Amino acid sequence: MPEPAATVHPSLETPLSRAASLPVPAATELSGRFRLQRNPRCASDADRAQALRDLHFGAVFTDHMAHARFSRGEGWADHEVMPYGDLALSPASAVLHYGQEVFEGIKAYRHEDGSVWTFRPRYNATRLNVSARRLALPELPEEDFIASLVDLVRTDEAWVPSGRGESLYLRPFMFASEAFLGVHAAGVVDYYVIASPSGAYFTHGLTPISIWVTQDYHRAGRGGTGFAKTGGNYASSLLPQQEAAAKGCDQVCFLDDVTQTNLEELGGMNIMVVDADGTVRTPRLTGTILEGSTRSAIIRLLTDAGRRVVEDTISLDSLVEGIRRGTVTEVFACGTAAVVVPLGRLMGRDFDVEITGSEVTHEIHDRLTGIQYGRLEDPYGWMYRLA
Ligand code: COI
Repeated sequence: MPEPAATVHPSLETPLSRAASLPVPAATELSGRFRLQRNPRCASDADRAQALRDLHFGAVFTDHMAHARFSRGEGWADHEVMPYGDLALSPASAVLHYGQEVFEGIKAYRHEDGSVWTFRPRYNATRLNVSARRLALPELPEEDFIASLVDLVRTDEAWVPSGRGESLYLRPFMFASEAFLGVHAAGVVDYYVIASPSGAYFTHGLTPISIWVTQDYHRAGRGGTGFAKTGGNYASSLLPQQEAAAKGCDQVCFLDDVTQTNLEELGGMNIMVVDADGTVRTPRLTGTILEGSTRSAIIRLLTDAGRRVVEDTISLDSLVEGIRRGTVTEVFACGTAAVVVPLGRLMGRDFDVEITGSEVTHEIHDRLTGIQYGRLEDPYGWMYRLA
């Protein structure tokens, strides 16, 4: 079948981005939906200050977590913010056997005046439900999703770091907790949000990363769960990621499973290619790729800056050839955790090429983080005040 023509100004309008732009009630209206059960053993000011020093990604957790439970018949109930701690799970919980689980990643940013904001929360609320539908999990009302962020962040506000590039990484997740071994959708499901004060995902910031393009493994297949944010997609990336590390690379990149020639995404990030003529290309959303919130925002920012942005089929061969000939000048990865990071080297079974440019990458990084941290105006209404 011939490839469809490249789409110019592509994902500005997708069902997800449209849903994400609907208004959200102010945090003051949503707060209190998750009843607070205060942790009697919160970290002392000194212990918290120590924990907030020298932050890495996802290694430290705050005093509380948000929780709600779904049961068939009753729906969602027991919304609470409770002490952070280990979960008591039956060893027969369906998630432990069949992986019925979805999750999200979203950040809370401390602005210079001390206020705390998040970025396009309805995008993540909607995407959680897109993922939940695919995994036969119940949908969580979007306002409950946003309220869970509001109530948790307001409770643990002191944990939102203020250092450059730091944020409170929020990890909402939902899983099948019903205890049974039959293969069917669970009737009891738990939703949690945990929060982790975090530094940069890549410890060297905007230093270019190296990529191993795996030609042996795929992350997802047609009709599968590639577009959903579910643990299985990430589990399937771990062995190839180990292979990438063994080759001396920071990250793995996957190709599509049908032609085995076209770029899809990295282990946990989308990918963008900058051409010498200034065009920015990114793999089209084929159902096997996660529709990243950062990807979507970057497409909007670049388009509004007058750049040609193309959602395209990008073959590995053409990319390597383009880098060699200089028709491709930059490649970068983007995601909530990783933000924006340049690729400096692309390796695979029979190629090894260097990419030296990163001008557009830096530009888009600075523009996006400028909006997120309140240093630049937000003409899109993307930022939502949590506290
Ligand atoms: C995120 O960017 O938020 C993710 O969930 C990806 C993961 C690699 C941390």
